[in-house]
Amino acid sequence: MTQWLDNAVFYEIYPQSFQDTNADGIGDLQGIISRLDYICELGCNAIWINPCFTSPFGDAGYDVADYYTIAPRYGTNEDAKQLFFEAHKRGMHVLLDLVPGHTSTEHRWFKESVRDEKNAFSDRYIWTDSVWEAPENMGCLRGISDRDGSVALNFFSMQPALNYGFYKITRPWQQSPDDEGPKATLAAMMDVMRFWLSMGCDGFRVDMAGSLVKNDEDGKGTIALWKKVRAMLDKEYPQAVLVSEWGEPDKSLQGGFHMDFLLHFGPSHYNDLFRCEHPFFSSAGKGDASAFVEKYLDSYVKSERKGLICIPSGNHDMDRLARSLTPDEIKVAFGFLLSMPGAPFIYYGDEIGMRYVEGLTSVEGGYNRTGSRSPMQWDSSANNGFSSASPEKLYIKMDADPERPTVIRQLARKDSIYHTVKDMIGVRQEHTALQSRAGIDFVCAAPHTYPLAYTRSSEDETILVIINPSAVSQRFESDLPGGETIYSLGGEAVKEGAAFVAPPCSVNYILL
Ligand code: NOJ
Ligand code: CA
Repeated sequence: MTQWLDNAVFYEIYPQSFQDTNADGIGDLQGIISRLDYICELGCNAIWINPCFTSPFGDAGYDVADYYTIAPRYGTNEDAKQLFFEAHKRGMHVLLDLVPGHTSTEHRWFKESVRDEKNAFSDRYIWTDSVWEAPENMGCLRGISDRDGSVALNFFSMQPALNYGFYKITRPWQQSPDDEGPKATLAAMMDVMRFWLSMGCDGFRVDMAGSLVKNDEDGKGTIALWKKVRAMLDKEYPQAVLVSEWGEPDKSLQGGFHMDFLLHFGPSHYNDLFRCEHPFFSSAGKGDASAFVEKYLDSYVKSERKGLICIPSGNHDMDRLARSLTPDEIKVAFGFLLSMPGAPFIYYGDEIGMRYVEGLTSVEGGYNRTGSRSPMQWDSSANNGFSSASPEKLYIKMDADPERPTVIRQLARKDSIYHTVKDMIGVRQEHTALQSRAGIDFVCAAPHTYPLAYTRSSEDETILVIINPSAVSQRFESDLPGGETIYSLGGEAVKEGAAFVAPPCSVNYILL
């Protein structure tokens, strides 16, 4: 029932910056609906929408005040229903962003939890039993209410951690995942999931999924928790897809997630490829993909047949690709992203090479992330077609660079990033060997070597992918036969004797 993941290509939408339809300067759900055809036309058949629930927006919506209502600035629950309907009509699927680890301090649960009198929400968050004791290794709020205790934080200071218990208990106030409080927290979160699934959403991207049970070094408690969620879903909503922000697929997939993201932090070496002093995808050719490949293979082997590892082009937390790569380098990077196993995720605007906007004042807890969250650039009308509000009312300022890319300009150029991405997705959709579940074997990925080459194999075909981001042609020895080039960017790679030779800045998919 989750078969659609086999050939899913996702598009991540940061709702406040995508399309405004009521001139308040903030994107909205009707705006997303109005752009579904654009997303479809690009070739994406699934979307992930960042949190769109009622919130004081101290962390752009990752501080939820009510899990059951769409934030008025984005529309209504009816709009969400319509969005699911319109997406399904086009054969697309929609994931919402579930934030189970913490709420906003404005949430009703928290307002009850701070009260001195014992009530149904006293144990909903992690409290020490004295205001003079702070929880170890976690930030906390204290002295904020009559309740004698300190309450643990999960992220920013207005994001108190929900209580799912501790795996190893070292203090009397720490509860086990099987205690009543943590059990009630999990039950409440399952109800939230049921609510949106019954309305028609197809699943969730889960925020900080690996951090729910505390003092849980190996993730065993958190894995056990997600297994319970999966068991409930298998019974009630077997079609529901779960994608984790965890970054350790060997753990998350055991917990029943279908896919886990490679993250820009943690052990993945993801940013060796895109965002570091010498990114592998820079044409300078000084990068090194080998640590990435080694870690990837390790996770891949451990997670094989349990689920998928997904690689995003970027997201709302990291620098835009265009901050470290030129448009031509971005095209080559997409040649990799769109030919790897797992479902690729394209961050809105990366398909046109949107830039990181420098020098912005932080918006809603964005800080340095704000530059990657600027409004989508559609056309050459006012505010690039994002909104008809006056520019000072926009959620985040538009990129002011006269050279900034727009959809309309990219559409007009055959060699644009947009067309490259669209063509690559098209080829991926025609070949099972390039899709989510087909296997991968690296054939050229030694330390400090170019190109990067791997084969992808499904039951009925094998495709050799050769990616050469560097500005000079590169060769590698291989006893693989040559074959039919089914996609080529920057010139065809050729077999010369016992070696393949890849032209400078090129991507080749060869059907063997
Ligand atoms: C990860 C989200 O992607 C990020 O934007 C957010 O600030 C934190 N989790 C906290 O929820
Ligand atoms: Ca709006």
